Amino acid sequence: MEVEAQPLQTLRNRSSMKWAAFDEDVLPLFVAESDFPLADPIRAVLQEAIANSDTGYSPPSSELPEVFSAFAGEHWSWQVDPAQVWTTTDVGMAIVETLRRVTKPGEGVIINPPVYFPFFDLVEESGAKVIEVPLAGGIDTGWSLDLGAIENALAQGAKAYLLCNPHNPVGRVHSREELAAIAGLAKKYGASIISDEIHGPLTYPGETFVPFLAVSDEAREVGICLTAASKAFNLAGLKCAIMVTAGGKNQEIVGSLPLEVFWRTSLFGLKASIAGFKHSGEWLEGVVSSLDQNRKLLAELLSSQLPEVKYRMPQATYLAWLDFNALGWGEDPAAHILEHAKVALSNGPPFGVQGKGFARLNLACNPAVLREAISRIAAIR
Ligand SMILES: Cc1ncc(COP(=O)(O)O)c(C=O)c1O
Repeated sequence: MEVEAQPLQTLRNRSSMKWAAFDEDVLPLFVAESDFPLADPIRAVLQEAIANSDTGYSPPSSELPEVFSAFAGEHWSWQVDPAQVWTTTDVGMAIVETLRRVTKPGEGVIINPPVYFPFFDLVEESGAKVIEVPLAGGIDTGWSLDLGAIENALAQGAKAYLLCNPHNPVGRVHSREELAAIAGLAKKYGASIISDEIHGPLTYPGETFVPFLAVSDEAREVGICLTAASKAFNLAGLKCAIMVTAGGKNQEIVGSLPLEVFWRTSLFGLKASIAGFKHSGEWLEGVVSSLDQNRKLLAELLSSQLPEVKYRMPQATYLAWLDFNALGWGEDPAAHILEHAKVALSNGPPFGVQGKGFARLNLACNPAVLREAISRIAAIR
């Protein structure tokens, strides 16, 4: 099934962040929203809900745990116990709620910059303290988890590790070996791993996304997975995320969160997530295939029009982490590009000091939009 991202004139009718933040002369390729039309099964359940004025609270239980478990089994051979799947508002909130239970105020939480920049704030919001353990490697050689530095941080008392897998913004899927190693380290030092897997369904053909809880008994003991249908199916505004455990104390921790944490799931988000995971597999395949073409198209466009810009194709996610340092556009090239080329990328520095001279481009758009964005940027070079 072909799924094509919508053209600009259609997208301009949207009112979400991506389309509201800038004037119409700016091409928005920043926040992680995608430009595909909704999958038909999702559109249908939402239209039905509207027709029935079905706009109340979410019900006490739903099909989503079984549906997610079936999706995880089919896509990743991950056996999820539906009794250990809970829902809440969004992944950001789930990060705060779970970190609050696995750390005490002031205790350290490892993150791996450059990383999804709200991680800095979310750790603080939970009352804990950020411990930065940058990714090893870089754009020339590829990135990896710095196991030695992670062990040091744990030995010095970090109590949790907020993992981003697949990693935003570098688009890496961490390997099974790395994940098994950090699970072993977390067990050795008595720390918990909160694994944010929101981009997991957006893994490219030929790459393997490994869910943390599928890795080993140690991972199942120390880990909590947080995920959602919201990136894959573009449902961020509908507010529904998933928390998964695999036994032990984490099952108790998540299971005993205040009822309000589960209660805050939106009914529309719940319905749309079920329709996504259960009935929209073909649509998702079509989207990933369009994204796959776009990530390759971006490589071609850069090499012909902006050869100074370094790019490493993501293994997952529709995000491209671009190194503009050679162009001399300063620490925050996205600011320069917005002003002069009228293209909005995500600013690099908030992702960590490693983001100086970088910007993040969202390639979940129509190829025509991607071509226009790169030619606008090339024109100011
Ligand atoms: C890694 C990661 N986690 C969480 C989120 C936000 O998820 P939510 O809207 O469910 O809080 C994003 C959004 O882009 C993300 O990239």
